[in-house]
Amino acid sequence: RKPVTVPGLRAMKAQGQRITMLTAYDASFAWQLEAAGIDVALVGDSLGMVVQGHASTLPVTLDQMVYHTAAVARGLSATLLVADLPFMADRDVAHVLAAGARLVGEAGAAMVKIEGAAAHVLEGIAALTARAMPVCAHLGLTPQSVHRFGGFRIQGREQAAADQLVTDALAVQAAGAQLLVMEGVPVELGRRVTAAVEIPVIGIGAGPHCDGQVLVLHDMLGVTPGKRPKFSKDFLAGRDSVAAAIRAYADDVRSGAFPAPEHCFN
Ligand code: KIV
Repeated sequence: RKPVTVPGLRAMKAQGQRITMLTAYDASFAWQLEAAGIDVALVGDSLGMVVQGHASTLPVTLDQMVYHTAAVARGLSATLLVADLPFMADRDVAHVLAAGARLVGEAGAAMVKIEGAAAHVLEGIAALTARAMPVCAHLGLTPQSVHRFGGFRIQGREQAAADQLVTDALAVQAAGAQLLVMEGVPVELGRRVTAAVEIPVIGIGAGPHCDGQVLVLHDMLGVTPGKRPKFSKDFLAGRDSVAAAIRAYADDVRSGAFPAPEHCFN
């Protein structure tokens, strides 16, 4: 398999090929993603919830992100590796660059993901991009803003909020972002944002019209404790291996069978 690259993702959008993305937190599961031909692996700070057992992503530290990113990198060869900037690593440009240098230079990520489109985030995106550390932006239900939202709530339901998210998507693209994760928004807004920007849009709870999909690995294997999020699906149910579940996810994303209407918000 040819290595997936940042320009390659853009070419996939242009050619209408859906992009498959899953989270991973260790080398063994990274290898499972690699073997199933998943395009992008994300070391998400969701590890604070599904690996560490916290109620949010906020307690995750940069050291922990570096540790997990390095482990995942050892399991991958062709799959592109994206790592999350943890909470407050965006406090100023110096911290953003220092964190990016550790995640990319030390741990082996090809891209750094950063939440939001506030002025300081746009500055961080531009600074990373200028130092050849490509950026994945993340808008909508950005989990690091859980306290501002008052919970993990769907975003962009009102017209003004939806318009603002389209403006934000154009702003992160203009700042240099090369990929955009849209999380927890109505189907119509996922469609609007995907049409508005040239960079690929990867949806999670953002409907079927995005250029690709991402899920948290533990959710799609049905091992996350508690209730499964509406936008996720247990791909291990009815299958006999993790490998088969990941392959089924990849097939369903590529064919457009996932997400189905029951995984979407209107
Ligand atoms: O932290 C994470 O896993 C994420 C995905 C849910 C997109 O940001």
